[in-house]
Amino acid sequence: MLSASMCMSRYGVSIIIAASVSFLLVLLSFSESFSSSAIDYAHKAQDYLKPASSSDIYNCEDPYRRPGYLYIDPETYKNTRWIPYTNEFLDAETPSYAEYPVKGDVFFNRTEVEPAFLDSTSNPQQWMHRAVAEDERRRKAVSVKKDDQTPEDFVSMKDGGGLDWLWGRRVLIFGDSVDRYMMLFFCEEFGRTIQQPKEHTTATCVIPSLNLTMVHWHFAGSWPGRPEWWWMDDMKEVAFEDRWAKIWAPTLNTSVRGPTGQPDLLMWQNGLWDERALWELGEAHYDVNNTMGQRERQLVWQEIRFVAARMKKFVQRVSAEFKGVPTMFRAITVHRESNARDANIYELDRLSRAIAEHADHETFEWGRLISGFSMLYKDQTHPGKGAGSWLWANMILEYLARSAGVKDEARSPYFNGWDACHSHLTGWGGR
Ligand SMILES: *[C@@H]1O[C@H](CO)[C@@H](O)[C@H](O)[C@H]1NC(C)=O
Ligand SMILES: *[C@@H]1O[C@H](CO)[C@@H](O)[C@H](O)[C@H]1NC(C)=O
Ligand SMILES: *[C@@H]1O[C@H](CO)[C@@H](O)[C@H](O)[C@H]1NC(C)=O
Ligand SMILES: *[C@@H]1O[C@H](CO)[C@@H](O)[C@H](O)[C@H]1NC(C)=O
Repeated sequence: MLSASMCMSRYGVSIIIAASVSFLLVLLSFSESFSSSAIDYAHKAQDYLKPASSSDIYNCEDPYRRPGYLYIDPETYKNTRWIPYTNEFLDAETPSYAEYPVKGDVFFNRTEVEPAFLDSTSNPQQWMHRAVAEDERRRKAVSVKKDDQTPEDFVSMKDGGGLDWLWGRRVLIFGDSVDRYMMLFFCEEFGRTIQQPKEHTTATCVIPSLNLTMVHWHFAGSWPGRPEWWWMDDMKEVAFEDRWAKIWAPTLNTSVRGPTGQPDLLMWQNGLWDERALWELGEAHYDVNNTMGQRERQLVWQEIRFVAARMKKFVQRVSAEFKGVPTMFRAITVHRESNARDANIYELDRLSRAIAEHADHETFEWGRLISGFSMLYKDQTHPGKGAGSWLWANMILEYLARSAGVKDEARSPYFNGWDACHSHLTGWGGR
């Protein structure tokens, strides 16, 4: 079986295999033991390896997982979008300023991206423009005060703005403060904020006009208990098993169940808390002259085995509790100034990608799409509100639309429900 991560290179692989098969045929025809069944077999193999239809596969591409350009409009972050490098782009004519030999002094200006690339039908959709405008329209149409509004006030408008598919949807995120901030910024775009019973527990963003709710369950890393050597004072439970029982489960029936009785989209992530815990552990048990006691180091193999085992258990728990729910691993964000201290973050990211692939989960690449853009951060750890959060918001809605089966002719079958393209998209991403 061809794995989804090879989706793009499928043609290449097919060509190589087809070439090998042809070569085999030539060899066979010269061989003594040549038999018609062998030829038959070779032909079958060739048929099997031919992609069913190139357009099907192309439309199963996740544009956010294609190499591309993060378009940031200097006028407003609300036009931020990902522009995947399509064949039309790669085959485009050479611009005059890239001709050889050079004519005069060539220097570059900020110009608009040509509409053909900016608005290509294969690009992700600008869901946020639509959702924010529709929220404003619906809010203006009711007389109930903003803070008193509930979904009941908007039922009669639920199909407006082409957003019928969004009504009643629930997103559940297992993440850290990076995810919580993104959820907060999302909520703020709709003039709302998040509710938290206490720091580092659960957080909820409710948008009544769309009957859309996002829930954040604060995941504290893979440590299986609360060690003596470190933790935040307000975090009494660290192990996800304990957090699940005491903090998360009580909210399960109130906020995360959408039209199917399950969340419509799940996302998990693990990185910064483990990075910190493993630093603290090293410092508590080794002196500074031992590499184990230093922050600028690679993970050691026991740490890899440890985190792999813990995260595998976590991911299995998620799959068991939320059977069949579209689930994504959110690629990890690094620090604003990311140096050798962050080496283990990259290692944790690669490990999580393998675990996600193994669990049949897809990858939410946001963390990588903004990596290196330290100007989008609000502090050393958290990407801020702006281009990064707008991108995150559009991505969440794009995957939610896919999960809801919103249908889109131009990109069919991509939006025909999660399963329509899922088998092409479970690969680790090759990052
Ligand atoms: C950038 O703008 C300057 C001034 O208008 C112009 O001379 C130059 O050719 C432009 N460069 C390119 C690559 O278009
Ligand atoms: C809002 O969505 C939830 C979850 O999908 C659903 O149970 C509820 O009936 C919806 N509310 C209204 C007023 O339609
Ligand atoms: C949630 O609902 C399910 C099914 O209705 C029930 O079995 C379970 O006990 C409930 N959980 C909580 C924490 O209330
Ligand atoms: C670490 O090594 C330095 C240089 O060799 C030495 O001066 C220092 O005492 C050592 N520190 C510890 C805690 O052993």
